Amino acid sequence: MKTTASSVLHFMLITSVIVHAFEPITTTIVAGAGMAALGNHLYNYIFETCNQHWIGFNATGLEVDLQSKLIGQHVASRVILKAVTGFMNNEDPKKPLVLSLHGWTGTGKNFVSQLIAKNIYQRGMTSGFVHLFTATAHFPHEVDLDSYKSQLQQWIKGNVSACPRSMFIFDEMDKMHPGLIDSIKPYLDFYETLDGVSYRKAIFIFLSNAGGENIVQVALDFWKAGRDREEIELKHLETALSLSVFNNKNSGFWHTSLIDKNMVDFFVPFLPLEYKHVVQCGRAEMISKGLEPNEEAVEQMAHDMNYFPRNERVFSMQGCKVISSRLDFYI
Ligand SMILES: Nc1ncnc2c1ncn2[C@@H]1O[C@H](COP(=O)(O)OP(=O)(O)OP(=O)(O)O)[C@@H](O)[C@H]1O
Ligand SMILES: [Mg+2]
Repeated sequence: MKTTASSVLHFMLITSVIVHAFEPITTTIVAGAGMAALGNHLYNYIFETCNQHWIGFNATGLEVDLQSKLIGQHVASRVILKAVTGFMNNEDPKKPLVLSLHGWTGTGKNFVSQLIAKNIYQRGMTSGFVHLFTATAHFPHEVDLDSYKSQLQQWIKGNVSACPRSMFIFDEMDKMHPGLIDSIKPYLDFYETLDGVSYRKAIFIFLSNAGGENIVQVALDFWKAGRDREEIELKHLETALSLSVFNNKNSGFWHTSLIDKNMVDFFVPFLPLEYKHVVQCGRAEMISKGLEPNEEAVEQMAHDMNYFPRNERVFSMQGCKVISSRLDFYI
């Protein structure tokens, strides 16, 4: 279409009418509101806020991560996917989700917590709504127990008030003082609200090595019987867990009434990892370092790791824990 002088004039006339239709004050208010909305939008974009932009469950993401990244943990993988998906899809949960992960060192307990966080919070573990406590680092001195208790309670209360969808991970749960565990119990229970705060959308994850040896025994029995590891089911491990964890009078965790009050929704067993899993971890590590997987280096590294029991050499002593640093010597 050809632009004629008259059409330009017509356009200028219309624009001037529109512009004149706004008095300066209205224009300022509209512009101000616009700026505020833009500012809000920008703020929400840059700073983490307790809303859908930053928090939202990616069920497929979790499923894919568990399948492709978590190595050798078919039982844990299934339980976690079911537990987290069920809870996150429930609009009105009656209590917070409480998971207790158990197993030998280096088998992926912290790793899986990271995968859960990553598929709920945009910022994953670095989210301001994800809180990680390590017993020996955060609560080292028994004499300070009373102050730990009140600080921890205030921390949980303050953070859940600010964002109901908060996640609390307690590492080295077996090293935590029973009194301190008792102090968080009210938050795990079936309460509508507690002092006006509802904890029902929060997630609590406990990590420990408690029960690890009995889980190893079950895995070893399967191995000795020539049965496939994949045949191990939750039911085979539940007895192992209950024997060692629930009846262990020395375990601080279980001195508390967490178990008989049914506050823990799922006990999740982690199996000890074998040579082939160490190799898989090595490959994954090389890829995450941006390197081409070097089969020879990975196998050499896996070969040089320590395995137990001494004669059978079936399970990796350190699981996949030291692989990241070890691998550097082989590539
Ligand atoms: N099952 C696994 N699949 C994939 N990677 C794993 C697995 N287990 C361990 N890893 C790797 O080893 C690292 C250490 O594992 P992680 O910290 O999760 O062990 P853990 O079970 O918490 O051990 P600990 O009981 O000693 O705390 C992880 O960051 C991950 O890179
Ligand atoms: Mg750990």
